[in-house]
Amino acid sequence: MTDRLIIFDTTLRDGEQSPGASMTKEEKLRIARQLEKLRVDVIEAGFAASSNGDFEAVKAIADTIKDSTVCSLSRANDRDISRAAEALANAKSSRIHTFIATSVLHMEKKLRMSPEEVYDQARLSVRFARQFTDNVEFSPEDGSRSDPDFLCRVIEAVIDEGATTINIADTVGYGIPELYGKLIRDLRERIPNSDKAVWSVHCHNDLGMAVANSLAGVMNGARQVECTINGLGERAGNTSLEEIVMAVKTRRDYFGLEVGVDTTQIVPTSRLVAGITGFVVQPNKAVVGANAFAHASGIHQDGVLKQRDTYEIMRAEDVGWAANKIVLGKLSGRTAFKQRLQELGIELESETEVNAAFQRFKDLADRKADIFDEDIHALVSEQVTGQRSEERIGLVAMSQSSAIGEQPKAQVILTIDGKEMSAESTGNGPVDATLRAIESLAGSGADMTLYSVNAISGGTEAQGEVTVRLQKSGRVVNGVGADPDIVVASAKAYVNAINRLQSPVERLNPQITTP
Ligand code: KIV
Ligand code: ZN
Repeated sequence: MTDRLIIFDTTLRDGEQSPGASMTKEEKLRIARQLEKLRVDVIEAGFAASSNGDFEAVKAIADTIKDSTVCSLSRANDRDISRAAEALANAKSSRIHTFIATSVLHMEKKLRMSPEEVYDQARLSVRFARQFTDNVEFSPEDGSRSDPDFLCRVIEAVIDEGATTINIADTVGYGIPELYGKLIRDLRERIPNSDKAVWSVHCHNDLGMAVANSLAGVMNGARQVECTINGLGERAGNTSLEEIVMAVKTRRDYFGLEVGVDTTQIVPTSRLVAGITGFVVQPNKAVVGANAFAHASGIHQDGVLKQRDTYEIMRAEDVGWAANKIVLGKLSGRTAFKQRLQELGIELESETEVNAAFQRFKDLADRKADIFDEDIHALVSEQVTGQRSEERIGLVAMSQSSAIGEQPKAQVILTIDGKEMSAESTGNGPVDATLRAIESLAGSGADMTLYSVNAISGGTEAQGEVTVRLQKSGRVVNGVGADPDIVVASAKAYVNAINRLQSPVERLNPQITTP
């Protein structure tokens, strides 16, 4: 039998805890379907007890997904566990993931509980969860900073109660590969019933070592890695799924492990998650960054042309970068467009959605001669993000002027609740003037905490993809917009962010604090 590495994706739970990455039920469902297509083993769909919105999202995913196990997080208490079980009731295969902090720091300062109380609560929670399912995961939160003797006691007890997966969380990304790997090995060796559970790693990337730490855990016997698409997650993020999968596949000679993931779905999944959350992928990001397979230096290009593996250890097409970047244009028809969507792994839900995307494609092709795969991904993402909030505000028209020595001016026409309105403003640049004009009509009163522009594909003809992050009364949202004109892209992103901010279906990021 081959030794298999279980890929546990937590994009929809831990990934969603990134500022501004909160998603609606529909968005989560769309990503869950794509994760199923990617063939991840476990999808952590959310934290059912954290809000009604998250409960509904976990339930919808559990009701829909058939080929991956669906999991809900729950704190170590009966109410959370019951909510998780309720949300997962219709899943073909389900898992309850319960956790409690075990480090002295967290027990004393956060939980205000004694180690004995934590020990009892961990045991009783796993016992309670086992009444609903025989697939129960237990995580000692802040495990990597916990006293190993105490960890041994707690883990032995929860395995006795029926926990089937033990997940050692490096909650604050404090681990060092050698030490974290050793911790996994020591725990497995010291705990008498350790062979009754699958060992799992869950690492955060605060010191940029989440992937290295996870792989060190794997080398010391862990057989599940918890990870997210694009490494999304709180603060510096989580272990990145694409890096783990491709490391284990590319260096099979070293790891000797099988993974069930369909790697050709990696890039489409990455694009979908980036589009929905507004967290753009840095160009030099391993595997899914725009430059991951681009060879700029003459020596490298020459080598790759002579023999590909001189400078390439993976094939772009194996991770879902289209092998053949057929460029579409103005004259391309609906059939060619639909075929391209299919080749890129983009699934739209209805013919109406395909028609809407085709119309966007035609509009773009009128303004841009060559339409690259990246442009198609962006226009679909924009369509998807546009649909996610009830759009109170629409961008009808805009213009602006700027010249050296003159103050830039902008005029915008918006529809707000179906009524057309216009406004003018000045600013220190055309983007600033445009966003001020929009704000004067929309009156969101939000603070902008991030504005970023990313060029999609190469050249000055490329589309700009803008992300805007707005914050108001503790709520954080990201808006995205793409257009060959970056001022228009900025206006689209700003309007998208305001719509999200004001949408009743958006919700706060779940925050995990007390048991
Ligand atoms: O980082 C962490 O500790 C977690 C746990 C809930 C597993 O996400
Ligand atoms: Zn985490």
